[in-house]
Amino acid sequence: MRHDHLIDTKQLTRQDIENVLDHAAEIDADPSAFADRHAGKLLGLMFYEPSTRTKMSFETSIKRLGGDIVDMGPVESSSVKKGESLADTARVIEGYADALVLRHPSQGAAKMVGEFVDVPLLNAGDGAGHHPTQTLLDLYTIRENAGLDDLTIGIMGDLKYGRTVHSLAYALTNFDAHQHFISPGSLKLPRSVRYDLHEAGASVREHTDIEAILPNLDVLYVTRIQRERFPDENEYRAVAGDYQIDFETLEAAPDDLTIMHPLPRVDEIAPEVDETEHAKYFEQAHNGIPVRMALLDSMLEDQ
Ligand code: CP
Repeated sequence: MRHDHLIDTKQLTRQDIENVLDHAAEIDADPSAFADRHAGKLLGLMFYEPSTRTKMSFETSIKRLGGDIVDMGPVESSSVKKGESLADTARVIEGYADALVLRHPSQGAAKMVGEFVDVPLLNAGDGAGHHPTQTLLDLYTIRENAGLDDLTIGIMGDLKYGRTVHSLAYALTNFDAHQHFISPGSLKLPRSVRYDLHEAGASVREHTDIEAILPNLDVLYVTRIQRERFPDENEYRAVAGDYQIDFETLEAAPDDLTIMHPLPRVDEIAPEVDETEHAKYFEQAHNGIPVRMALLDSMLEDQ
């Protein structure tokens, strides 16, 4: 497998992360300086699952670097419907593009495709597995608003199926971060993730309520219950709407609390929170551009 595929955040050192974030900050300060950097380069988009932010921000990023996309388009209108395998599809599209971006519903899909392709591959989300480029923009947002060291973060919602949670939790083990996980009992972190965090020496605590820990948080990272991943709709209904951040919840929050969410949200953050100084989730989504530009810039350098 190529060393420059980005499959998960376990492969990233603190230095790797800081290099991306520093480069993203440089791009953010003067995007026009990078406008022709990758003229003529093509990014292959393979999205087997819905996406707004990740897909559009990768497209924006490559275009802002002077390149363009080739998009497989919706699965329904591709030859996947004729039975073509994921590996074959990727091996074909790598011949059309200088790098590939893959989103797929199956955990492990990006790792598998990484064994077959010779152009850089970016995992844009594999089932309940990982979402490393989301994590890098999350870290960028945390660094801008709260700093990455001596950080107390609450990560709340669907910790079982939420791939952004898994990727963020691993990445934070590179920093002096105290991680508090808040979820219903049925949506706790998978055992494998807890084991890896323990092995990495992470400071981790689990809660079923937010009240006790909220006053101590620098950042609250809220996630959607991943309805599409539940094998049984009744299990989803049993937990849907259990957690909502609203004005009442925020009465106990520190004044400088940063609230983040990878989006899309359903009802876990009330719209009234959007107008508060706490709300950073739209800024977070916009940070996808400099961060993905930084990643593409370094990945395409030798292509
Ligand atoms: N945060 C995120 O991955 O959003 P999309 O599913 O819209 O890409």
